[in-house]
Amino acid sequence: MCGIIGYIGKNNPTEILLEGLKALEYRGYDSSGIALKKDNNIQIVKCVGKIANLEEKLRKEELLDCNIGIAHTRWATHGDPCEENAHPHQIGKITLVHNGIIENAFSIKKRLEKEGVVFHSGTDTEVIAALINQHYHGDMQDAINKTVKEIKGSYALAILNEDENKIYAIRCESPLILGIGKDEYFVTSDIGAILKHTNKYVLLGENEIVELTKDGYTITKDKKSIKRKVEVSNLKSEDASLHGYEHFMMKEINEEPILVDNFIKKYINNINDLPDLTNYKCIHIIGCGSAYYAGMVGKYFFEEDGLKVDIDVASEYRYRNIVYDEKTLVILISQSGETADTIAAMRKAINHKVDTLAIVNVDGSTIARECTYKILIEAGREIAVATTKAFIQQVLVLSLLSYKINPDDKYLDDLKQLPQQLKVLLDKTGFYKKLADIIYKQEDVFFIGRKVDYAISMEGSLKLKEVSYIHSDAYQAGELKHGTISLINEGTIVFGIITDEEIKDKTISNLEEVISRGAVPIYVGTEESGYKNQIIVPKVHKKLQPLLVVPTLQMVAYYVAYKRGCDIDKPRNLAKSVTVE
Ligand code: G6P
Repeated sequence: MCGIIGYIGKNNPTEILLEGLKALEYRGYDSSGIALKKDNNIQIVKCVGKIANLEEKLRKEELLDCNIGIAHTRWATHGDPCEENAHPHQIGKITLVHNGIIENAFSIKKRLEKEGVVFHSGTDTEVIAALINQHYHGDMQDAINKTVKEIKGSYALAILNEDENKIYAIRCESPLILGIGKDEYFVTSDIGAILKHTNKYVLLGENEIVELTKDGYTITKDKKSIKRKVEVSNLKSEDASLHGYEHFMMKEINEEPILVDNFIKKYINNINDLPDLTNYKCIHIIGCGSAYYAGMVGKYFFEEDGLKVDIDVASEYRYRNIVYDEKTLVILISQSGETADTIAAMRKAINHKVDTLAIVNVDGSTIARECTYKILIEAGREIAVATTKAFIQQVLVLSLLSYKINPDDKYLDDLKQLPQQLKVLLDKTGFYKKLADIIYKQEDVFFIGRKVDYAISMEGSLKLKEVSYIHSDAYQAGELKHGTISLINEGTIVFGIITDEEIKDKTISNLEEVISRGAVPIYVGTEESGYKNQIIVPKVHKKLQPLLVVPTLQMVAYYVAYKRGCDIDKPRNLAKSVTVE
């Protein structure tokens, strides 16, 4: 979480940093701030909320005419999202921005307070500024090196020292790259923030210090010079406009048919480009949030293929005692490729010397780089915090991997129809709006399903709660009566996801059980039902069915959030890329 950008060069940094922050806003938007440096003056401007607030504040200030600046957008970890806790933080000569969490900040802070240091925020970050300031006696490299030996946790830092016209940067576990332009240099959490200026970048190893001046840069570790390759990104400075849509979430849902179509065309005659999962005795599927639910859909596909599959959220997997079979493949699913827990799970697998497969959207991301194999889902940049099109592409990849194990003509026939069917479903906007009308005043909504329909329920429920703030939960349909059924009241909405033929009747019985206790059902299936509220999607091969069902639930979630007046693209408290534990 949190996004960092720093600039040094021939231009005034303010606009460059603001633009960069906008591209990084997906990493958090609790507060933002900027520090500009000219000679010995450092000017800090910060405020609560989105980058637009900072932009407005900056317009009203008289800003330093300078060529050096650092900036930050925050997702609060330690300390509320108030202005005092917004970055940059300054202690003595040191001003810095930080992404990550310092786990021993509390004890260091206590010690420093006894030594007379006065802190102004509730953040862990201020402790780093205080330590560097304390260790600084004319040699910044020395001060930074001593500081990182004392702190525990994750960090990416861009640092200014009042005495020097330089930016220092260092990272450990959190991402940070060096960008190389023409007579200008950048540090940033994500190449996307600087692509308008350069596509040349250098990856930084852990605890390597980058020292940037307007004339160049050096990289050192423990004061020894390090040479690193200059990479060239093939990403484009992506278009972040709405193209007539009111929200990115709706724009991105509507991109699904074309993305699915492109992906099918790319792989259908080149299925051998995808890895063969039958080379492995056991598959572990790992992800967080929606990526985990995409993995759950994949688990049902692969189990149908006779594979042994274990699935877990990355935050649990990384700490479990996993007994690895030597022929295990660990599949890491992640839109961003930078989710901290998924990276930790990946490294655990790598340490156990098993193969890893990344299913990621962002090429060049940590997970894309470090896994044995990678499949890019090619969803394009996803801006809305709640994922939609990336989820669909992840499921499509898993479906194609499964098809490769068990080729089937019916699958191929249905696959060809899929983009068009999806387009038709998405065009029924009036229909989703009507469903939203019956949901948007609810306090609790439930989703039930069995097997793959349970995985779909989980994603449908997550989408609804994250964008509309309605409490929503998903249950395995058979489990509902072991407690949760007590929550069903007169009028409670229950979605029954019922696409799996083999188990259809069982879930219908469960739906009837809640109806007899007053619930209002919304039937989601492939054939007309007797229920008043229903979402009917075309019946297709079971390994493609989720690709038609989930988009309809995304549409419902969107319109419910819309009717409730929620901030659809940037729901409260969330961040698109969760780069801390
Ligand atoms: C956050 C996002 C979710 C996403 C999850 C995993 O919680 O809001 O939409 O599913 O992170 O992110 P990843 O980038 O690893 O797919």
